[in-house]
Amino acid sequence: MATATLPSSAPQPNPGAILQIGLGFWASKTLLSAVELGVFTELAAAPLDAAALSQRLGLHPRAALDFLDCLVALGLLDRNGGLYANTADTACFLDRNQPSYMGGILEMANARLYRFWGGLTTALRTGQPQNETTNGTDPFAELYSDPQRLRGFLQAMTGISGGAARAIAGQFPWAGYTTFADIGAAQGCCAAAVALAHPHLAGVGFDLPVVQPIFEEYVRGLGVGQRLRFQPGDFWNDPLPAVEVLIMGHILHDWDLDGKRRLVAKAYAALPPGGALVVYDAMIDDERRRHAFGLLSSLNMLIETPGGFDYTGADCCGWLREAGFAETRVESLGGPASMAIGIKR
Ligand SMILES: C[S@@+](CC[C@H](N)C(=O)[O-])C[C@H]1O[C@@H](n2cnc3c(N)ncnc32)[C@H](O)[C@@H]1O
Repeated sequence: MATATLPSSAPQPNPGAILQIGLGFWASKTLLSAVELGVFTELAAAPLDAAALSQRLGLHPRAALDFLDCLVALGLLDRNGGLYANTADTACFLDRNQPSYMGGILEMANARLYRFWGGLTTALRTGQPQNETTNGTDPFAELYSDPQRLRGFLQAMTGISGGAARAIAGQFPWAGYTTFADIGAAQGCCAAAVALAHPHLAGVGFDLPVVQPIFEEYVRGLGVGQRLRFQPGDFWNDPLPAVEVLIMGHILHDWDLDGKRRLVAKAYAALPPGGALVVYDAMIDDERRRHAFGLLSSLNMLIETPGGFDYTGADCCGWLREAGFAETRVESLGGPASMAIGIKR
């Protein structure tokens, strides 16, 4: 039997990337458990040695050192002279007491998604969500039936959308407008970032009624409660607020193609001439070969929703033009998300 030989100049096959991706859940779950245990919050006040930190976290001695040193090796903690400390990134983003805390998305990943992704093969074979949804229609009805899960989800949205929200506040030409509404505002992360950066703006957070107290607490805490009001509503059945700019962030990817088109058409109808729709999501690159995060986010929509999927910037501009928007463009927001802007003439 002939054996295949590779020309000596060809790059040699390397299993490194396969192993790193295939066992990537080891590192992922180590970080998620560290957030759950409060490692980064405990270390916010001062560095601690292994014994003191283990005692505060309630760690069994068997793997305490391995766990903490793993976090060092993963670049999530520093260790100097036996004392563990947060890195600059973990001090900023994973200390629960900082306003910049973005662990909400990791807490939700730990409590829900980590388990549900175990059903990915089934989802790929059946096309069915693999989360707590049982009625097969509205993914939010089941998710929000538990108050703790509701708050956790809304905080997770703040965790995942903070970077995009600050970029939208900085990049969109807000000087030309005076009013805006964030449709599906969740805790109010994007609305608050825009209001904080532009004192001349008044905004609306539009979301399901159950979200109201969590939105109001958040925006009051950031000192923008006077300029941001909450409007309870259902974007399928109720009118959208009458404002100059509508934002839909991580909304379109939750729904099937018909739902996406209906929401874009509804936004177009609600806007005045000159008004703008800003859509942001982890948009996939137009060739669908580079932005793995956008494609993985689309698989997450398979796990989480009956018909949702992520899409490219070109797809989104197509839907915007189909609805009537005269000018469209896509801008990267610096992180995993991009925004598509449609201007109504
Ligand atoms: C994936 S989250 C996105 C939150 C936020 N825009 C962001 O980017 O972080 C979807 C939001 O849409 C809201 N939502 C879902 N169905 C809705 C409906 N029928 N009417 C109004 N809001 C809805 C949810 O409550 C949630 O806040």
